[in-house]
Amino acid sequence: MSESATGEPVNAGAVADSGTGVDPSMLLSLRGVTKHFGAVQALRQVDLDVPAGQVTALVGDNGAGKSTLIKAVAGIWEPSSGTMYWQGKKIDIHTPKEAALLGIATVYQDLALCDNLDIVANMYLGFESTKKHVLDEITMEKRTQQTLKDLSVTTVHSVRQLVASLSGGQRQSVAVARAVMRDAKLVIMDEPTAALGVSQTAQVLALIKTLASRGIGVLVISHNLNDVFEVADRVAVMYLGTLVSSGPVANYTMSSTVELITTGVVSRAA
Ligand SMILES: Nc1ncnc2c1ncn2[C@@H]1O[C@H](COP(=O)(O)OP(=O)(O)O)[C@@H](O)[C@H]1O
Ligand SMILES: [Mg+2]
Repeated sequence: MSESATGEPVNAGAVADSGTGVDPSMLLSLRGVTKHFGAVQALRQVDLDVPAGQVTALVGDNGAGKSTLIKAVAGIWEPSSGTMYWQGKKIDIHTPKEAALLGIATVYQDLALCDNLDIVANMYLGFESTKKHVLDEITMEKRTQQTLKDLSVTTVHSVRQLVASLSGGQRQSVAVARAVMRDAKLVIMDEPTAALGVSQTAQVLALIKTLASRGIGVLVISHNLNDVFEVADRVAVMYLGTLVSSGPVANYTMSSTVELITTGVVSRAA
C-alpha cells in the first residue's frame, strides 16, 4: 500500500475506479469542490460520498457551508473548482433542471408548493409530459394517493385538500412525494424539521427512513443532533467551509460530533 508523506495510508479500504478515483457504487461523489463568493471561501476542497439507500446527515455550525454545498449539487451554484460524479461518472450540473433530470431532488425549507392548489395539483405542478394526452384527474388522484401510501404518509385525509390547510410536516411529505413520483434517486433536504413540532418531526423522520429503505439516497442538513442520530446512516461534518469528517454514524457520538462542529477537530477517539 502506498503511503503519504505523513505515513497515512492512501485510499485505505476504498474501492476506487482506476480512472476517476471514485467508487462507482456511490450515487454522488464530490472531489475537491471549492466555491468562492468574492473573498469568501464558502467551500474548501470538499470530498464527499453519498450512497444510495442510506441517510447521510450533513451537519455544521451556521456559515459552515452546508447550504452552499447542497446548492452546488442542486445546480444553483456552479463550483469554482472541483469535480462531481454521479454514479461514478463525471458530471457538470449547471441548472436545477439538469439536477432534476439526473434524479436529484431538493426539498428546501421554503417549499415550492402552491398554497391555493390541492395536493394533486401540487404533485403535478410543472410536470412536463412529452406524451400527447394529458393525464386525467382520476389517474392523477390515484397516483398521488398511491405515492403517499407507498411512503407510508397516512396523516393526509384527502388529496383534494388545499396545501394551505396542511401542517408543516404534511407539506414536507407532499414535496418529498412529488420528488419520488418523478423518480428521484437522491433527495436532498435542508433543515426539514427546523420549523416542526414534535409529532410532525417524527413524521418527517419516518419519511426520511422510508425513502432510504426504498433505495433512495437522502442527504439531509440538520442542526438537531437528536434527529441526526435517529435517522442517519452516515455523518458528514463541515467546519468553516471544510468537510472535516465523514463516515458511518457508528464512528460518532453526540459529544464527538458537537466537538467537530464547534472546533473542526475531535480531541480523542469517539
Ligand atoms: N450568495 C452568497 N453570496 C455571498 N456569500 C455567501 C452566499 N451564500 C453563502 N455565502 C457565504 O458562504 C458561507 C457559507 O454559507 P452557507 O452555505 O449558507 O452556510 P450554512 O448553510 O452551513 O449555514 C458563509 O460565510 C456565507 O456568508
Ligand atoms: Mg444553511
